[in-house]
Amino acid sequence: MKKIRIGFLQFHPELFQEKHNLSKIKSMLSGCSADLVVLPELSTSGYLFENKEEMEPLSASAKSGRIANFFRNLSAKENLALVVGFLEKENDNFYNSQMLVFPNGRIEIYRKIHLFLDEKRLYKVGDTGFNVFESRGAKLGLMVCFDWIFPESARTLALRGADIICHSANLVLPFCQKAMITRSIENRVFTITANRIGTEKNETQELTFTGMSQITSPKGEILVQATEYEEILKVIEINPEEARNKFVTETNHVLDDRRREFYEL
Ligand code: ACM
Repeated sequence: MKKIRIGFLQFHPELFQEKHNLSKIKSMLSGCSADLVVLPELSTSGYLFENKEEMEPLSASAKSGRIANFFRNLSAKENLALVVGFLEKENDNFYNSQMLVFPNGRIEIYRKIHLFLDEKRLYKVGDTGFNVFESRGAKLGLMVCFDWIFPESARTLALRGADIICHSANLVLPFCQKAMITRSIENRVFTITANRIGTEKNETQELTFTGMSQITSPKGEILVQATEYEEILKVIEINPEEARNKFVTETNHVLDDRRREFYEL
């Protein structure tokens, strides 16, 4: 299989500042020469909402409207697939969603399943399931932030054939970057964790996000990592085919050797 160029965009989305966030994304991606770039969770709106009234003006429908159109144009202009965390609204429900946008205008959606802290009050649990989509010969699996702590998320994506797990994040706990090394090893997949940086304050709440976005290989190597503080785009070349060999030794296949009869609980 052909090698492809994959990356993450780590930056500081400003709460309530959609125009600012979109223009930063556009300028940081300008001329980037990649096949796939993953952006953080809720990268167009910021994260720390107090209530649904605050979320309303920043929310958007998944496949039409200003956010979808902005990323369709950007994906076509830069000729790459984008995975973007955004605040989705459908009917009267908010979802913490990811859109996968292709240069031809096609959009696929993942709605976050494992909600974190106050998200349980503000968002509906995602109903799309864990899905895999093909782009330039590579199979891309989608998941958002706290999905990382449930190994079933990455496992399901691997069982569905994902070569690269595209993980949009707004991480606040210190464990995820290390856990994603394990997700890579136990599933023999590439992972791209696109995290945000900065501190957000709203009323009495405050959160600081941990940066250190990274790409891991099916062997568990960190191929590239950002620092905790920088706004940066990192792109590397990989061969997605490496994720198709599921043998961790000559005789141990990480998917076929599961003994499901012992996992019932
Ligand atoms: C998280 O799921 N945003 C930690």
